[in-house]
Amino acid sequence: MRCRLGLEECPKNDAGILRCFPKIEHPFGMVIFGASGDLTKRKLVPALNRLFEAEILPERFFVLGAARTKMNDEEFKSRFNAQPDLLKHFSYTSVDYQNPDTFKSLKRIVDDLMKKLGVRNLIFYLSVPPDVYVPIIENLSRTGLNTETSRIVIEKPFGKDLKSARKLEEVLQKSFKENQIFRIDHYLGKETVQNILVFRFANFIFEEIWNNKFVDHVQITIAEDIGVEHRAGYFESTGLLRDIFQNHMLQILALITMEPPSSFNGESFRSERVKLLRSVRPFPVEDLENWIVRGQYGRGTVNGRAVPAYREEPRVSKSSNVETFVAMKLFIDNWRWSGVPFYLRAGKRLPKKVTEVAVVFKRIPHSIFPNVPSRDLEPNTIVFTIQPNEAISLEFQVKRPCPGMVPQLLSMDFRYEDYFGVKLPDAYERLLLDVILGDTTLFMRRDDLEVSWELLDPVLKAWESDPERFAPYIYPSGTWGPKEADLLIERDGRKWRKP
Ligand code: BG6
Repeated sequence: MRCRLGLEECPKNDAGILRCFPKIEHPFGMVIFGASGDLTKRKLVPALNRLFEAEILPERFFVLGAARTKMNDEEFKSRFNAQPDLLKHFSYTSVDYQNPDTFKSLKRIVDDLMKKLGVRNLIFYLSVPPDVYVPIIENLSRTGLNTETSRIVIEKPFGKDLKSARKLEEVLQKSFKENQIFRIDHYLGKETVQNILVFRFANFIFEEIWNNKFVDHVQITIAEDIGVEHRAGYFESTGLLRDIFQNHMLQILALITMEPPSSFNGESFRSERVKLLRSVRPFPVEDLENWIVRGQYGRGTVNGRAVPAYREEPRVSKSSNVETFVAMKLFIDNWRWSGVPFYLRAGKRLPKKVTEVAVVFKRIPHSIFPNVPSRDLEPNTIVFTIQPNEAISLEFQVKRPCPGMVPQLLSMDFRYEDYFGVKLPDAYERLLLDVILGDTTLFMRRDDLEVSWELLDPVLKAWESDPERFAPYIYPSGTWGPKEADLLIERDGRKWRKP
């Protein structure tokens, strides 16, 4: 299959970086608010650096860092480990997000740069704490920086609940049109998450069995071995349900279960995602314990290292009831999935970092093999390993090479790196490129947010209204969460996989 450049294989440079995207022609400018922060250093600049190394960025562009910290251009540039030729395009100015006057001077700097480089395509990237989203957007508007050709990128959390998400949306929509707004869920930028779509919609055989006639249940795991790290300030007011489920988890669920869109590009892909999320059955709040389990990590050992409990982490309250683990069971009430349970879990300080989706098929109806009851035959499973070792596996039974008729489960694996021999691009690389090109396909739409908050808001309200009843179960760090999470699935005669 040839790509749109007419190539059969992806060309790479010596560093193993793919070189198959043409150089962007039009100059652009990017203003990064919160440029002195962690995300800029860990994700945005490395992604820009790779796009630069792959010779995709245009000849003329600028990156203007803007944050509260006072520093000069050289100090700003020295924070990054990037190509000196890339850093030539960087400069910095300090801003007070609440103060309209500093936005006037920001505008002067931006106008100068735009004029000098002939830029029309201006991007504002909000890599800041959520409490300053609104003042920044209002100040952009007040100073007239939100022109017709500008774009705004915002990171989650998109609000704290349905009400605050709507408030933020109101402010956003006053200043920008929907096609100018890029709400990032970085999971949608992951190569293997997008591959779910190719697997489902570029193959015929799987789609035919992708429904309640063949699928017994689905498990999605987003496990991390790290704890809260230095993000206690954020995490204490967020918790894992908001941090992972409201966005990444529900988006993966949607891609695994949605109906085929008429086309990948444009609105139909986004509409199918939202349609699916609207079919998720609301959680019964009176019986919530049987559907959602909250956990919080206690002391334990991860990767051979003793680690403190969540409540002992710096800047975490000693009596914090914030959850660092959630396991849930849900149903999708539509024709395709009616009756199929979905078991989802995510947590911090679990034994390892792994994100996987396992589609577990039904057991055979009857075993013809003596002494092998069908309940002993593990069912066929298709596993998408989204990270860290990106792969797709199909588990099926084979005959053991011995005189008897003894079946054994075997896994047929396709690993991205082994096959393609490339380092997969980071999600931010793809997403930043799409922002520069103005393609919103892989970004959340306003109704994506509404529908995910509508689903989770009642859960958060129930937890808040009865903290004692819903206090998180403490699990030792380095384990797969509290035993109540095991019970959630074992009650149904099933088991969590051990990824
Ligand atoms: C972020 C969450 O969105 O995703 C973090 O805020 C989490 O808490 C991170 O650690 C996980 O992302 P990834 O790409 O490492 O799986």
